[in-house]
Amino acid sequence: MKDSKPFEFNDLQGLLRFSHGRLTDTCFMLLNIVNTTLAKQWLNAAPISSASTIEPPPDTALQIAFSVQGLRTLGLKESVIADFSDEFILGMTGDESRSRRLGDIISNSPEHWNWGGDAAHVPHILLLLYARKDGMEIWRKTVEGEHFFQAFQVQTLLPTLDIGVIEPFGFADGISQPEIDWAQQQSTDLHQRDSFSNSLAVGEVVLGYPNEYREYTTRPLIDPQQDRVATKLLNAIDEPALKDLGRNGSYLVIRQLEQDVPGFWQFIDKETDSIAEKREQLAASMVGRKRDGSPLVQPAVEPISGIVSTNQNNHFTYESDPDGYKCPLGAHIRRANPRTGDFPPGVNGFISRLIKILGFGLNRPDDDLIASTRFHRILRRGRSYGPLLAPEDAVKKDAPAAERGLQFICVVGNISRQFEFVQNAWSMSSKFAGVQQESDPLLGHREPLLDGNSTAYFNRPEPAGVMHKTCHLPQFIRVRGGGYFFMPGLSALRYIVALPIDEDDNSL
Ligand code: HEM
Repeated sequence: MKDSKPFEFNDLQGLLRFSHGRLTDTCFMLLNIVNTTLAKQWLNAAPISSASTIEPPPDTALQIAFSVQGLRTLGLKESVIADFSDEFILGMTGDESRSRRLGDIISNSPEHWNWGGDAAHVPHILLLLYARKDGMEIWRKTVEGEHFFQAFQVQTLLPTLDIGVIEPFGFADGISQPEIDWAQQQSTDLHQRDSFSNSLAVGEVVLGYPNEYREYTTRPLIDPQQDRVATKLLNAIDEPALKDLGRNGSYLVIRQLEQDVPGFWQFIDKETDSIAEKREQLAASMVGRKRDGSPLVQPAVEPISGIVSTNQNNHFTYESDPDGYKCPLGAHIRRANPRTGDFPPGVNGFISRLIKILGFGLNRPDDDLIASTRFHRILRRGRSYGPLLAPEDAVKKDAPAAERGLQFICVVGNISRQFEFVQNAWSMSSKFAGVQQESDPLLGHREPLLDGNSTAYFNRPEPAGVMHKTCHLPQFIRVRGGGYFFMPGLSALRYIVALPIDEDDNSL
């Protein structure tokens, strides 16, 4: 254990520490900079919320993130940009193989997106406004202030609507999150993390600090001798002679995911012969939780070492259910967070670890199929959109159609190792944990594999050897937009604003 030292929350954007849950009204804007000088003036005065705690808690919040095009427009040099991660520089739609890996093909493909799909016109800025109920109109006017519309063009206003603590299919959401070790007390020593832990090194979500590999994620470090403006930046902890543009910043992934709520419930209703109890069971097995948020695996009564959560519904691992009899292996939350440790269950202590490392001992065939979870966590910060439609109404033939879904947002230190890995290797994979011909029952696009094999199944095994197969799953969720952004620390934001610009009035 290291000495606890206070984290510099005053330099961190609030969204990293708080989900702003009390601030139910949101306005998410995608902006293009049309006048750089005015944009910088606005940015200079913008009341961006830090992660410091304030008493009483504020009634509003404002967060900001930039695409690589936005940073370029504000004057960040290519030589500095080159030290951001490749996936951030290339963007979510930057190359076909990335789109394929993310499942952004056929009807999910970027050419069908409402925004972000055209790599040449990626929005410069994502502005996230939060307010208490009915407070958004005034907050938006305050935030915009003067000259906002001369500085920026609003490319898209993303729809959002508060429907409570559930997502549009009707399941409780926002229950499971990693617990960030802000005090940096937890060891990232490999030998102390055999089993699943919910506590995560700061460097997994914030740049400039050690991550779960005890390393500093690559980010732009600037020599203050070469760049006078860089004195505004904080020093790099690992290289104190250099200034750290990444420190207290994170990557922010956003995807607009449209949910076919009537389609979801009507399919499940048909599969279960309209028997309400069975309908709930099948839907819950697809999610991995019942609608009220309780997990299908019984939460443990006694403390589980490594799980830090006040929510009893988050107090479980899948160790007691290796075959997926209670929570199917392919369920959404089991794929998104398999709650595995560095070693399979039962491997603890020097000798058994050594036996495992050397490849001896009695192993289950699927022991090594799932990577250790701690390297692939994401901090979710999404919000719903579209009118509420209760499952009981969604099953009716005349259920009102409307655009509904999730503005999925997650914050990570490494886009490819965290968000892209979860999306590709776990959610979309038809081989996750040894399952066959399945992908995520919620997120899957159901396209057959290159060898012609279907991915449109969902399997629920039973102890007696019976496998309940649900076939011909339709696509319930379509991608409607998305992008990769950088959410800077507040010193880094001041640096970006102070950068000299070559010429004014950028083209759209
Ligand atoms: C419209 C799309 C989506 C819906 C309806 C949805 C729904 C849900 C629900 C109901 C939960 C359970 C609540 C909780 O544990 O907090 C959940 C958890 C989760 N989802 Fe999603 N989700 C969606 C998209 C995604 C995407 C795109 C990802 C990542 C690639 C993702 C990753 C996760 C993770 C990591 C958890 C927590 C799992 C755990 O820690 O046990 N979800 N989601």
